[in-house]
Amino acid sequence: MFARIKEDIAAVFERDPAARSRLEVLTCYAGIHAVIFHRFSHWLWTKRYYWLGRFVSHIARWLTGIEIHPGAVLGRRVFIDHGAGVVIGETAEVGDDCTLYHGVTLGGVSWETGKRHPTLGPRVVVGAGAKILGPFTVGENARIGSNSVVTKAVPDNVTVIGIPAHSLGERAADENFEAYGQRREVNDPVAVAILRLCDRVGEMETVNRALLERLKDSGVDVEGIEVSEFDSTCLDIEAMPKS
Ligand SMILES: CC(C)(COP(=O)(O)OP(=O)(O)OC[C@H]1O[C@@H](n2cnc3c(N)ncnc32)[C@H](O)[C@@H]1OP(=O)(O)O)[C@@H](O)C(=O)NCCC(=O)NCCS
Repeated sequence: MFARIKEDIAAVFERDPAARSRLEVLTCYAGIHAVIFHRFSHWLWTKRYYWLGRFVSHIARWLTGIEIHPGAVLGRRVFIDHGAGVVIGETAEVGDDCTLYHGVTLGGVSWETGKRHPTLGPRVVVGAGAKILGPFTVGENARIGSNSVVTKAVPDNVTVIGIPAHSLGERAADENFEAYGQRREVNDPVAVAILRLCDRVGEMETVNRALLERLKDSGVDVEGIEVSEFDSTCLDIEAMPKS
């Protein structure tokens, strides 16, 4: 048990730049407390002490604001950062080294008994407020953007964002943990499409201006016709401040 707690604490140091001392992590991290309580409630659940398991998880929820059903299966070094408002359903499975931020729900969309909550593979990062709803798999190393609503399976090494969540494409498999799942380059297909459209608008305006000049030179009356100058830099992602 103590070996598990030790590796839970080590995982916090690897994944939270705000962590200062072991004492602080052990005493002030609700996510650590919730995981320790869950080990006990899950053990009771597997021994068929259902009410007691539920009661222990209820006490944990009361103390931490994190609700983990005793039937849920958590892997090793799972880190719930901040924690408040996290809900993990009965048939959810969370792989080793996953990181969940506050407000995450691993929920169901059906009243049927049996598997109805998601399974997260190893090293999945789930952003604050994200909802993963249904009995599908989120592949290893996947990243779920803050406040996304995920309703379908997510392949390995893929980042998804939005409501409902859409993919930003696959990443290299061997990347290290990045706090808050943060990446710098723009690879959201919607943002890329908007930037391409901006470029095209700029090109079209250049062509229109040239045509107007030629018409004018050929003596055609173009009085009152103007081609505006679209400022494409207002959408230049490179020029936007990066955190
Ligand atoms: C919104 C909801 C009621 C829709 O259920 P449904 O009618 O069975 O819808 P489906 O699952 O067939 O999905 C239909 C479409 O809506 C999308 N969708 C489903 N739920 C969505 C949600 N919450 N937000 C945005 N889009 C959603 C699906 O991706 C799907 O899109 P597609 O047609 O492009 O593939 C359900 O998905 C939901 O969110 N229920 C609440 C679950 C919850 O809060 N559980 C917590 C338990 S702890």
